[in-house]
Amino acid sequence: MKKRIISSMVLVLLGLLPMSAQWGRPVDYSAGPGLKDAYKDYFTIGVAVNQTNVSNAEQIAIIKKQYNSVTAENDWKPGVIHPKEGVWDFEKADRIANFCRENGIKMRGHCLCWHSQFADWMFVDKKGRPVKKEVFYERLRDHIHTVVNRYKDVVYAWDVVNEAMADDGRPFEFVDGKMVKASPYRQSRHFKLCGDEFIAKAFTFAREADPTGLLFYNDYSCVDEGKRERIYDMVKKMKDAGVPIDGIGMQGHYNIYFPDEAQLDKAISRFRELVKHIHITELDLRTNKETGGQLRFSRGEAKPQAPYIATLQEDQYARLFKVFRKHADVIDNVTFWNLSDKDSWLGTNNHPLLFDENLKAKRSLQILRDFNPAADNRVPKEDFVPNPKNQPGQQYPMVNSEGYARFRVEAPDAQSVIVSLGLGGRGGTVLRKDKDGVWTGTTEGPMDPGFHYYHLTIDGGVFNDPGTHNYFGSCRWESGIEIPAPDQDFYALRTDIAHGTIENVLFYSRSLGKMQQATVYLPAGYGKLVGQGAKARQERYPVLYLQHGWGENETSWPVQGHAGLIMDNLIADGKIKPFIIVMAYGLTNDIKFGTIGQFTAKEFETVLVDELIPYIDQHYLTKSDKWNRAMAGLSMGGMETKLITLRRPDVFGYWGLLSGGTYMPDDIKDPTCVRYIFEGCGDKENPDAINKSVAALQSAGYRAEGLVSDGTAHEFLTWRRCLYQMAQNLFK
Ligand code: XIL
Repeated sequence: MKKRIISSMVLVLLGLLPMSAQWGRPVDYSAGPGLKDAYKDYFTIGVAVNQTNVSNAEQIAIIKKQYNSVTAENDWKPGVIHPKEGVWDFEKADRIANFCRENGIKMRGHCLCWHSQFADWMFVDKKGRPVKKEVFYERLRDHIHTVVNRYKDVVYAWDVVNEAMADDGRPFEFVDGKMVKASPYRQSRHFKLCGDEFIAKAFTFAREADPTGLLFYNDYSCVDEGKRERIYDMVKKMKDAGVPIDGIGMQGHYNIYFPDEAQLDKAISRFRELVKHIHITELDLRTNKETGGQLRFSRGEAKPQAPYIATLQEDQYARLFKVFRKHADVIDNVTFWNLSDKDSWLGTNNHPLLFDENLKAKRSLQILRDFNPAADNRVPKEDFVPNPKNQPGQQYPMVNSEGYARFRVEAPDAQSVIVSLGLGGRGGTVLRKDKDGVWTGTTEGPMDPGFHYYHLTIDGGVFNDPGTHNYFGSCRWESGIEIPAPDQDFYALRTDIAHGTIENVLFYSRSLGKMQQATVYLPAGYGKLVGQGAKARQERYPVLYLQHGWGENETSWPVQGHAGLIMDNLIADGKIKPFIIVMAYGLTNDIKFGTIGQFTAKEFETVLVDELIPYIDQHYLTKSDKWNRAMAGLSMGGMETKLITLRRPDVFGYWGLLSGGTYMPDDIKDPTCVRYIFEGCGDKENPDAINKSVAALQSAGYRAEGLVSDGTAHEFLTWRRCLYQMAQNLFK
């Protein structure tokens, strides 16, 4: 997280990030089309509302933008509108209905017959004695007819019977006080009085009152195998007997761990054998492990949602919606149960919804809205091989020929394992426990080619992947993976050429009062005598000072940057004359959060220009004038390069910024002080800035060159390509 914040802070300063992702500004995940519009070819998107939701302007705006179906959370329940025989209270129910009528939003009518929040007076007479089922039916019919007639103009689907089936660990059925069998039915007052006939009656009454509205049986835990089959059997029995059931409502009170796609797919597939309409009627994703009707409320002051929990929730929402889309021919509505976490019946601290307790859209909303339909049917090619950066003998992580990455982590008692690599702004790839209890998962799609840092988040703790090597990359050694690039030959380790050497240099920095490190690339043949006899001498070389980015150090260019291999290949292929590269630690990692604006690179300028360069010129065979000295850097190393080259034009004659900002002609006081300027970035960064700057420099007469790297972002393949290109034009 810290890395992301600080590096995006750097990117913003460098003008490389789009406005929406700018650090310091909260991202508005609801910017863009509404959910209902994104799903117009799939199903309607609904929300359960309370009185505040339809009275408060900000909340009304959210409803109108995102949803095109509304359910009354509580205000249409029999206990609310029909508390006593002959007593009706339609005030709240009407307010919601009128809101929908005024805004052209259709409703799901919830609910006509339920064991909870019911008009329990229907079961007893004035003296409190149980009534016969005929009396109950008469009252139920009157209730259903009255409600349906009042609202059928605005309702397209009715939850006629709610939750009539038993949960797992189901109850026993009693007849005359004797246990007869394990019952598939909930032992409600309705059932005890009428058996399952009350279900048939309720649907019949609803059909009488509304010949065209869709009539639903609605229940929770539909993905539990036992309950799924009990619901299936009941609906089948009813339909076979001619009861007008049009659809099944799957409530969908799930959590971030359950169900998986297969369980959900199985339930929908089973129900679609019976009905033409399935609605996901009450969707929310708890962040604890409960589901369905068993409730442990998480009330109290809102506590922030841990980032890894948010990632699990985003991933779960994305997975479930992928299954919903697959069945869009039979699913015609998905309704979220409540508008925001603040409204949720599960309590704010379950964070179950798409809007948080302050009505801010969460990233889940953006992920659901911006789904890629092409990715829904994408299956990776099964030609995975071990990642080239794996430790000896390790099979995982793997990569395939399309650039998918696959991970496998043994953590038997973990609750969640997330790999930080993800596509399109997703928080990462969430692994799932396979049948052997091992965590596995594949990226949602192909990754950008090249090198990626990553780590594992196991139950919220950060770890490296024991399968692969570590690279210094976010102020620590992180795991790395290499997705083969189409042009990878330019940094290949070849057997047919001479290789240079890379050595570690320790030098004393007087200004810092301590030893500093640098890594030095010496081309093949360095130090060898050239020429014969008395004329024999050692060749001297130009030097490129090449800086890493934030979070990295003097090992980053030679190891993950493959600077040495790039040089070896260029020299062997006769594309460049040999030169030395010095890669020093650029003091970038102590920058405190929020202080990047004051970053001057002054300290490093002293270390580099006044201490390291003299040391290098004294200890190595260098050509020590400015026309044999270049400076370049990536990202924050680019910021350093720009600041230092402009302040010390006497020291460096060739300048390079790699995803590290741009020069403009006005920045440069003396046009003769630089012979070559290189600027590059990935095409997923901000190539416009590079193109504009290079064009401006060229028309001002500078020898400037730009490179926009194909299909890459702010990562090392971009910079490897930049080095390869830039190296061919230095010292000319
Ligand atoms: C819930 C409401 O959200 C709560 O405010 C109320 O206290 C209890 O009922 N299944 C249903 C919904 O069909 O009507 C329930 O709504 C949630 C479970």
